[in-house]
Amino acid sequence: MKTRHFLTIADLGRDEVATMLERALELKTLKRQGVRPPILRHKTLAMIFEKSSTRTRVSFETAMADGGGSAIFLSSSDSQLGRGEPPEDTARVLSEMVDVIMVRTYEQDVVDCYAEYATVPVINGLTNQYHPCQVLTDILTFFEVRGDIRGATVAWIGDGNNMCNSYINAAELMGFNLRVASPIGYEPTVPLGRNITLIDDPRSAADGADLVVTDSWVSMGQESEKIQREKAFLPYQVDSKIMGLAASDALFMHCLPAHRGQEVAADIIDHPNSLVWQEAGNRLHMQKALLEFLIAQNSKNSV
Ligand code: CP
Ligand code: NVA
Repeated sequence: MKTRHFLTIADLGRDEVATMLERALELKTLKRQGVRPPILRHKTLAMIFEKSSTRTRVSFETAMADGGGSAIFLSSSDSQLGRGEPPEDTARVLSEMVDVIMVRTYEQDVVDCYAEYATVPVINGLTNQYHPCQVLTDILTFFEVRGDIRGATVAWIGDGNNMCNSYINAAELMGFNLRVASPIGYEPTVPLGRNITLIDDPRSAADGADLVVTDSWVSMGQESEKIQREKAFLPYQVDSKIMGLAASDALFMHCLPAHRGQEVAADIIDHPNSLVWQEAGNRLHMQKALLEFLIAQNSKNSV
């Protein structure tokens, strides 16, 4: 049987996500009680970072340590990747030694290439196109606070970027309504399902929403577009006017790092209905459940 990877949200089934959400919360409760079950004992994760990271790196490393395993950090600048060793060779070499490979890179094609050549699960730790680990965590955070996200209305306000694309995948899989408000020229490029609408006006997108989400206007790799992006996105700041149009108990999420005064006003990110710290912390618990799931699937396949 084929190795299961996690390259986009669409690699999972709805029931699999539901089971993982429950497991992540169980592991979170246990950790708070001082219990760290050895679910990743003797397992090793290789983490390839071609872009910067705080949350993804720390959550994966801590997940492996908590579970009794270990993680190896590889940056392109100080591994042979930086000297041109191709992903297809790196994937085969790492598969001889480790149990899971996580990759943060530019193009989705590169993660797909790792998955094609690896014989162990490959996890997408962010590409220009998708950020599935973060969106899985956002669903976990909504689930923890409000329950099942199915039927809820989510407003994505800002760039039609990697996070937005993974939200589009998640809306289709998990059955929530997604409204996307992006400036012209910055709309998402992935196909939209039935429950996803593109709306020009951020105020209409926010109207009655249960959850409002945004992200940086300038993603990693887009630094040269900073000036024109900041101009185009100015009317898309999530501020108290936008949040005032959402449901009275609407939640706010942001994958972080955030830029106060740009994509989000300071009083919104620091508002009691903002879940950003819980959302960041939940990366740890969600990734534990994901690693456990992928390793179990893979050992089932190799029997
Ligand atoms: N949200 C997120 O992926 O953060 P990092 O870039 O710090 O990993
Ligand atoms: N869209 C952002 C997410 C950072 C976690 C980026 O790609 O830089």
